[in-house]
Amino acid sequence: MCGIVGYVGNKEIKDILIDGLTELEYRGYDSAGIATLQENNIRHFKSIGKLVNLQDKLKNYSSDGFVVGIGHTRWATHGKPTELNAHPHLGEYSYVVHNGIIENYQEIKKSLEQKGVNFVSQTDTEVIVHLFEDFYKDNNDEFKAFEKTLNALKGAFAVLLISKIDNQKIFFAKHGSPLIVGDDENGEIYFGSSDSAMIGKAKEVIYLEDGEYGYASLDGIKLFKKSKSKKLHKKTLTQDKIYAQKDGFRFFMEKEIYEQSEVVNDSMMGRVLDEQIDFEELDKNFFKGINEIQICACGTSYHSALASSYLFERLAKMQTSVEIASEFRYKQPLMKKNRLFVVISQSGETADTLETLKMAKKAGMKTLAICNVDNSSIVRTADKTILLRAGIEKGVASTKAFATQMMVLWMLSLYIAKLKNSLKRKKMVKELQSIREIPSILKITDKLHEKIKRLSKRYLHGHGFFFIGRDIFFPLALEGALKLKEISYLHAEGYPAGEMKHGPIALADSELFTIALMPKSLLYEKTKSNVEELSARDSTILAVSPEEFELADDFIKTNHSAHPMGEFFEMMIVVQLLSLEIAIRMGNDVDMPRNLAKSVTVE
Ligand code: M6R
Repeated sequence: MCGIVGYVGNKEIKDILIDGLTELEYRGYDSAGIATLQENNIRHFKSIGKLVNLQDKLKNYSSDGFVVGIGHTRWATHGKPTELNAHPHLGEYSYVVHNGIIENYQEIKKSLEQKGVNFVSQTDTEVIVHLFEDFYKDNNDEFKAFEKTLNALKGAFAVLLISKIDNQKIFFAKHGSPLIVGDDENGEIYFGSSDSAMIGKAKEVIYLEDGEYGYASLDGIKLFKKSKSKKLHKKTLTQDKIYAQKDGFRFFMEKEIYEQSEVVNDSMMGRVLDEQIDFEELDKNFFKGINEIQICACGTSYHSALASSYLFERLAKMQTSVEIASEFRYKQPLMKKNRLFVVISQSGETADTLETLKMAKKAGMKTLAICNVDNSSIVRTADKTILLRAGIEKGVASTKAFATQMMVLWMLSLYIAKLKNSLKRKKMVKELQSIREIPSILKITDKLHEKIKRLSKRYLHGHGFFFIGRDIFFPLALEGALKLKEISYLHAEGYPAGEMKHGPIALADSELFTIALMPKSLLYEKTKSNVEELSARDSTILAVSPEEFELADDFIKTNHSAHPMGEFFEMMIVVQLLSLEIAIRMGNDVDMPRNLAKSVTVE
C-alpha cells in the first residue's frame, strides 16, 4: 500500500515530505524516497526499510528557499524492495512517483527500449517518466507531453511528476488510485494519497476524481478532465488525524472491510496471467518431490487454511492437511519430506505458528510462508514467502488479511495445478476468469450495508449464534463466528451445516440465532435441508443466499455467481459487516476488543 506526498513552497522540504510520509506509514511500506527540484538542481534520496533510513540520508541536505518536491513510500509489487526499485523514478531530467499499476507497462517499455531508452528498475512506474520525456522531445510542450503520457497508460494510477523543464510545478493525475491536492493560506501546495498526510499543512483540499489531472504551482492549481479545464472543487480539510486515517469510517475495521476490493486486487497484481498464475517468489524446482501439503496457522489464518484445503485437493489434486499450530506443536506429528509445509500468518510473529515452522525446518521439510508482513520472524525463517499485500491491518479483528489469504491460496492452488498438470486448459481459463471478478464482487453497496445495519438490531440478545455452512462455507462459518465473538462478546459457533443434527441441534429454540450460509453454486439443496431442520425446531434463521428461502426469519440476498469462490467472497463481506454492526450497537470498541492483542507473540 504505497503512499504519495508532494510540496511546492518555501518551507524546508525534507521536513514537509518526511512528515507527510510518516503519516502514511500505517499503510505499510518497504522502501521510501524523495526527489527535490530547486532552480536547475534536481536531486533524489532513497532507502530501503523504514523512514529513519531515509532521514539518515537527508541529514546533510537542506532546501532553504523555494523548492518543488515529491515523496513516496513503496510496498513492493513489481520487483523487489530495493533502492533501485524505490520511487521516485528518474528519466533524464524528470522524476515520477506513482501508486497503482500500469497494466501495459511491458509494451511501453519494449517500444521505448527500441528507441534506446535505458531502464534501471524492475517497476512498472519507470515507464511513466521515460514516456513523458519521449513525448516532450516531439513537441517541446510539457503539459501536452504529460497529457499524452496519461492517455497512453492503462490501469490504475495516481501520479506526481516534476521536471527540470519547468522547475515551478508539480504535474498530477488520478485514475483509480487516491490523490488529494491542497493549498494553505499562502498558496503553498501540498499533495497526499490520503488526507492524513496533509493535516496541519493544507487548509483546503481537492479530493481528485478519476480522470482528473493538471499541475500546481504558487500561481495556483489548474485542473483538467478530458482536455477541458475544470472548476476547483475545494473542501476544508479536517484537522483530526485519526479521523482522517480512518478515511471517514467509524472504525479501522470498517475501513479495512471496505478496502478488501482494492487489496485483493493488489494481491492479484502481476500474478494472474492469461492462462496461468505466476508467483515470481516461487519456482518449479521448489515443488520437486512434493505431493502433499501440510498447513499450520491460528485463528483467522487457520480458517483460510481450512478453506484452502478444499481448493488444493479439488484443483491441484494435492492431499492437504490443516492443523491449529498450538495443537500441532505438542502432538509429536509425523513430518514427511514429500509434504510442503505451509504457514499462514497476517503478522508473521505468531509464536505458535512460528514454532511449527521451526519444527518443519528442523525435520528437513520445504517450507512456505503466506504472510502480510515482510521481514517478520516467519518470513525470515521460511524457505519461500508469498506476501499478501493487504497493507497494515490495524483492527484487531482480521478482515482484509483473511480476504487476501483466500486470494493467495486460491491462486497457489492454481499455480500448483499448472505444475502438476491437474487441470484442463479450459477449466484453468475459467478459474482465472472467476478470479478476475473478485475485486468487483468485493465492492460494498450502500444497500447491502444499510440492510445489515438495520437487521443487526434484532440480533443483540438470545443465547447464542450458530454460523453454518458446507464445504468452503464451513470455514467461512467459523470465521463469521470468530469475528462476532471477538468484537461483540456474544457467544457464537461455526459449524458444518450437516453436523448440527449430531448434537448442537439440541440447543435450537427461538433464542438461538442461526446464520445460514446458503450458496446457490455449491450443495444448495443439502444445506437447505439442514437449515429446514433447524427452522422446524424454531431456531431464528438469518439466511444468506441468492435464492429466496421461505422459512427464513430474515434474509440477506446475495448475488448468483458461477464460481463458489465468488459467493464465498460476497458472504465473507456479509458476516464481517454483520459482526461489525452488532458490535457497534453493543457500544464496543471494535478496533480494540477486550482481552485481545493484534499480534500474539506468546504461547
Ligand atoms: O497474525 P496471525 O495471522 O498469525 O494471527 C493469528 C490469530 O491470532 C489471528 O487471526 C486472530 O485470530 C485474529 N484476532 C482474528 O481476527
